[in-house]
Amino acid sequence: MRRDALTLFRETFGVAPAVGGSAPGRVNLIGEHTDYNGGPVLPMAIGQRTTVMAAPGEIGILEVISTRDGVRRRVEYAREPGEGTTAFLVGVVRALDRRRIGLPAGARLAIASDVPVGAGLASSAALTVSAARALAALAGHALAAKEAARVGYEAEHDHVGVRCGTMDQTIAALGRNGHALLLESASGATRQIPFTGTLLLVDTGVRHDLAHSAFNTRRAECEAAVARLRDVHPGLRWLAMWPAGEMSRLARLLPAPLRARAQHVVGETARTRAASRLLERGRLTQFGRLMYESHESCRRLYECSAPELDLVVQAAKRAGALGARMTGAGWGGAALVLIRPADAAGIGAAIERAFERRFGRKPAVTPLRGGGGARVEKVGGTSR
Ligand code: GLA
Repeated sequence: MRRDALTLFRETFGVAPAVGGSAPGRVNLIGEHTDYNGGPVLPMAIGQRTTVMAAPGEIGILEVISTRDGVRRRVEYAREPGEGTTAFLVGVVRALDRRRIGLPAGARLAIASDVPVGAGLASSAALTVSAARALAALAGHALAAKEAARVGYEAEHDHVGVRCGTMDQTIAALGRNGHALLLESASGATRQIPFTGTLLLVDTGVRHDLAHSAFNTRRAECEAAVARLRDVHPGLRWLAMWPAGEMSRLARLLPAPLRARAQHVVGETARTRAASRLLERGRLTQFGRLMYESHESCRRLYECSAPELDLVVQAAKRAGALGARMTGAGWGGAALVLIRPADAAGIGAAIERAFERRFGRKPAVTPLRGGGGARVEKVGGTSR
């Protein structure tokens, strides 16, 4: 991706870039829809990345080109909010500006990415965090990893208006190869946990435009649940703080569908903490069981799965996978399958067959490649 971004920059702007930054996509091993409820998540950076090459341009202007569509766009970032990709970038520029990291002379940007869009692999966080790295470097600042994550979050949440949590930007900034990252969203505390399992990534190819609005609806439901629970528990700040041992009380206090949403968040919070302890002890078989449980909870209680994802999980289970679940926001996108290394070909083929039988086409099944977190990229000719 680094080479593609360099080439695109030179071909578009006729000069070499001054700085570059990159950041990975992610999978989430477990802990879905818990982050904006103050709970834990356990994501892992993947090998697919977004690279942003940058150089000074015209004062007050971002000029942007991306390998995705090859269209050159221009936006006056103090006045225009931007659209699509440029909206995320304007969000980043403004978030940096609030930190007094202003661009002295605008910026020209070339973007290359192999993180698929809409697959639940956090392509937007890869974009905002890589851009945060590159644009801060252009302004002469080395951004600390957690600050880069925060800038990415503000761009997506405050500027673009997706009411996401902090998981995607945090793993994009802090990911470490061969490790999953336990993030406790309420405190922001993080812990790197070695991941020794073998995973298949199954992209169902289902892309739901509805995902953003459904996502915001779920978030509103969770807030409504907290507001009601506060009547009996005034100190309750986050849904994830509700004790897992008091599930039946929770059920009595909430009407449908808030009840099911809250049950998912509280159950998933306990499951994610248990799963991270299992991972630390290398107990992959038990970890896998919690992945299945998490999927079931996403499907039945949070209603954020899709028939294609459910079929992948069922087929994986039948073929003997240790665990499987949807990953990311859901309503389409990709599933993760945890396997014993020797089973990769057999389980992958079984999933493909079952999927094709039901949906008349094949999903993309690939071994999951891990990756590292955001970094500054060299702008010279040699690749790394
Ligand atoms: C999206 C959001 C994350 C998180 C997941 C669901 O990826 O950006 O913050 O809420 O959905 O777990």
